[in-house]
Amino acid sequence: MTPHPGVAHPVTTGEALVDTFHRVHDNLRISVTDRCNIRCFYCMPEDGVQFQPRQEILSFEEITRFVRIAADLGITKLRLTGGEPLVRKDLPQLVEMLARLPGIRDIALTTNAVLLKEMAGPLRRAGLHRLNIHLDTLCPTKFQQITRRDEFARVMEGIDAAQTEGFPVKLNAVAVKGLVEDDIAPLARFGRERGIEVRYIEFMPLDAQGIWDRNGVLSASAMLEILSREVGPLEEIPHRDLRAPATEYRFLDGVGTVGFIASVTRPFCLNCNRIRLTADGHLRYCLFAIEETDVKRLLRGGACDADIADTVRDTVRRKWIGHEINSANFVPPPRPMYAIGG
Ligand code: 5AD
Ligand code: SF4
Repeated sequence: MTPHPGVAHPVTTGEALVDTFHRVHDNLRISVTDRCNIRCFYCMPEDGVQFQPRQEILSFEEITRFVRIAADLGITKLRLTGGEPLVRKDLPQLVEMLARLPGIRDIALTTNAVLLKEMAGPLRRAGLHRLNIHLDTLCPTKFQQITRRDEFARVMEGIDAAQTEGFPVKLNAVAVKGLVEDDIAPLARFGRERGIEVRYIEFMPLDAQGIWDRNGVLSASAMLEILSREVGPLEEIPHRDLRAPATEYRFLDGVGTVGFIASVTRPFCLNCNRIRLTADGHLRYCLFAIEETDVKRLLRGGACDADIADTVRDTVRRKWIGHEINSANFVPPPRPMYAIGG
């Protein structure tokens, strides 16, 4: 059914998650930890990060129960995020539990790949389908400058391991103006050689220290210009999936594609199909949402599945039309990226 604002909706389990702007939600992003083993400056402070105490983090059983209920409401695609999800102990076990749930068709993971060399095999065997690997530069010194850690070599080994295991891989590169202009073309060349799509993500106001400002955003159109000048001409690929956040381009020589997640200069909220569960069990209808719904309280307070399903539907119904990064009234979310899950 298609709800309209102001119209009462019958509440039954199994009813699709449709918001008041007719967007159907089939995609759940699950943060499994707020911890991370590197410190990208656009996400985390260099030190002194206050992480959630262990007991506040949802257990695998709690996550799996939530996903089972969400799958009954039409969630079919999952993405595990962090912090850095691979620092969560025994993660393949969670993947296995989720892969067994009826209705779940696709499980992806976003990782910085520092621990991927060891984990790629176990994750593949557990039933993980796809990997997005976060890498902003192919220069080890620049990597250290951005992440404040000396882990470049391990990340490259992680990428190798992921491909050896046969995972479809994409790279996520955060594009900060005045910093990564020289890294845009080498990353695309690397992607072309390795059969990996590089997705350039415009720098978003989600950093922990409030350093974001509009002048720090390297725009998708500026990056396209760099790529066509330094790598070769490109053309936009007609949208394969209207609801995917990236706009994709292919090189005219037929070798490789790149994508842009242009949240700032070309917001794609109108197609959003995503909700997010934080590591401490709060449900968010938007990366930039100010409000959150405490589902951990329900999971730990003896709520039945139907109560939790109602809460999920209610959260989706409260979803706004989109973020307002480009408006003068924009208020950044109270929690930074690592605490939300990206
Ligand atoms: N702006 C844009 N992307 C970010 N990420 C982390 N912080 C930011 C930010 N401030 C990206 C990382 C990670 C993904 C989950 O979010 O690339 O892979
Ligand atoms: Fe860690 Fe990801 Fe944040 Fe970088 S962006 S500090 S890898 S959580």
